[in-house]
Amino acid sequence: MARITASVYTSHVPAIGAALDLHKTAEPYWQPVFKGYEFSKQWLKDQKPDVIFLVFNDHATAFSLEMIPTFAIGTAAEFTPADEGWGPRPVPKVIGHPKLAAHIAQSVIQDDFDLTIVNKMDVDHGLTVPLSLMCGEVQAWPCPVIPFAVNVVQYPVPSGRRCFNLGKAIRKAVESYDEPLNVQIWGTGGMSHQLQGPRAGLINKEFDTMFLDRLIADPEGLAGVPHIDYVREAGSEGIELVMWLIARGAMSDVGGGNKPTVRHRFYHVPASNTAVGHLILENN
Ligand code: DHB
Ligand code: FE
Repeated sequence: MARITASVYTSHVPAIGAALDLHKTAEPYWQPVFKGYEFSKQWLKDQKPDVIFLVFNDHATAFSLEMIPTFAIGTAAEFTPADEGWGPRPVPKVIGHPKLAAHIAQSVIQDDFDLTIVNKMDVDHGLTVPLSLMCGEVQAWPCPVIPFAVNVVQYPVPSGRRCFNLGKAIRKAVESYDEPLNVQIWGTGGMSHQLQGPRAGLINKEFDTMFLDRLIADPEGLAGVPHIDYVREAGSEGIELVMWLIARGAMSDVGGGNKPTVRHRFYHVPASNTAVGHLILENN
């Protein structure tokens, strides 16, 4: 059987991708950000996952106001890094896992979650920046990736509760896949930030710290936080954090297993307009 062995949580700031691609990681502004991922890069190499199930949000790149899937699973054999206005990032193409993705779609849809099945999708910074942070500059990503896009851009967006419950269904799906795969689930986006309007530049360290604490120790309670609290406390783009609840809902303790081990925790302000948060939880 396949197993979810760990979950990874990280912000996805596009300027981080640019800093990497333009070789600015050692500059004083960026150095502390990348330092927070040194441990993680080695950890990922040691863990050797077979597949990464990567929960992210598209930023009007693959989708637009013409079509807004709430949850979209990438079932293609590969996904091309998107051109977000400055040309595509010089990063490897993303190799998918169509067989496991199709299995998860089957199981999760039969569990009453409506997923959109996507057989062709370009992937933007929401997916490539987390991969870059965790892998550094590489010729190929270390394993196949199943992109799972969540609408957190155009209201109405899914609740934290629904995301958390979806995570449970994803774990069930993975654990019913008949191959001994080491699967990681990543929740990305966040932390507090607002890119627009009078409150542009908002960052709330107190909220972010609370979110990290409760994501570890009280995910069930955290799942009950309504949208309005994210928007008020974490800014309009802070709502990206609900995606972390999908990954957290897929951890074993939620289904009655042991508490996960906190392998790594990192928080830094600023990176572009956002607070950068990062966590690694291992199943026991
Ligand atoms: C920034 C952050 C984001 O999450 C995003 O999608 C785009 C821009 C920023 O900090 O500039
Ligand atoms: Fe974003």
